[in-house]
Amino acid sequence: MPLFELDDHLPADFRSSALRADVRAGLTAAPKVLPPKWFYDERGSELFERITELPEYYPTRAERAILTERASEIAALTRAVTLVELGAGSATKTRLLLSALREEGTLRRYVPVDVSAAMLAETGRALSREYAGLSVHAVAADFEHHLEHLPRGGRGLTAFLGGTIGNFEPADRARFLAAVRESVAAGDWLLLGTDLVKDPSVLVPAYDDAAGITADFNRNVLYVINQELKADFDPASFEHVAVWDRDREWIEMRLTARQAHEVRLAELDLTVTFEAGEHLRTEISAKFRQDGVREELAAAGFTLVEWWTDRDRQFAVSLSRAVPAGGGSIRSTAMAGRV
Ligand code: SAH
Ligand code: AVI
Repeated sequence: MPLFELDDHLPADFRSSALRADVRAGLTAAPKVLPPKWFYDERGSELFERITELPEYYPTRAERAILTERASEIAALTRAVTLVELGAGSATKTRLLLSALREEGTLRRYVPVDVSAAMLAETGRALSREYAGLSVHAVAADFEHHLEHLPRGGRGLTAFLGGTIGNFEPADRARFLAAVRESVAAGDWLLLGTDLVKDPSVLVPAYDDAAGITADFNRNVLYVINQELKADFDPASFEHVAVWDRDREWIEMRLTARQAHEVRLAELDLTVTFEAGEHLRTEISAKFRQDGVREELAAAGFTLVEWWTDRDRQFAVSLSRAVPAGGGSIRSTAMAGRV
């Protein structure tokens, strides 16, 4: 009998109320900006899945290679009873962890968390059928706001894969990691996927592919706004742009207005003016180095225990452990900070 339940922590009017606030603030700011979480309606989630299969988009393949090699080690180290996954999406790579943890004999519950409720329900149901006896407790939630609502229990492993941590602004990233630490018990584990700094000749095409799928994904946010806020964005009036910011070490995705024009957002009673060539920033995707990740984790209350990369050192998966608040030591399975 499949064990599946879905909790919805997104308010009924999430798509309109939170989107409204973000769009009003972002489109009246200078420069204009939108948070990336609004890419992911059903079409956006499907486009992201297609991105993961593009020849230029290496992160998914690199992270899968690492997890294929290390899943059993992760299972043996963590002996997790509950696996919580933030921004789970289709959870394709997660199956490697679920299988290894089942093999280890410890896993009882999987908690996928995502803002994309349709994708989440589909993923959760499929997994509860694939893993007999595993309790799949899916949670539709915004991981920036609802971490305290997540079901926990037994030794916990929180996974945040894909490099999605890079989509936060640095200050939001620090707040987010601290909130993750607050939501778990001392000794619990965090498995974090981080894309690594590398040559822009590899980075930029990953965000500006020849088939134009990333461009469609980028413009999808305009369709979401048109639909939810009765706006009249013409997506074709915006060029998809991906640039590498060498100083801040992040890819910035933009929609650049091809000509001067106005956009009306009826639900907000707002008219927004774009100059020709004006940028709307839709996403940052920060790239990392080991020292930076270690320091940011430490600042949030996690000790880095393992750092694994793929053969080409494109991507890293790190395993860290929540230190007790106040800095006491972790007893039990030891090895605080091997790297
Ligand atoms: N973990 C998957 C998917 C990464 S895509 C992988 O590695 O391939 C990023 C995922 O995070 C999407 O499924 C998106 O819907 C989700 N997401 C983005 N912002 C979110 C937020 N604020 N709260 C919860 N989920 C979010
Ligand atoms: C989800 N996230 C890690 C992706 C990334 O690479 O930053 C989103 C994405 N944006 C463009 N392509 C993929």
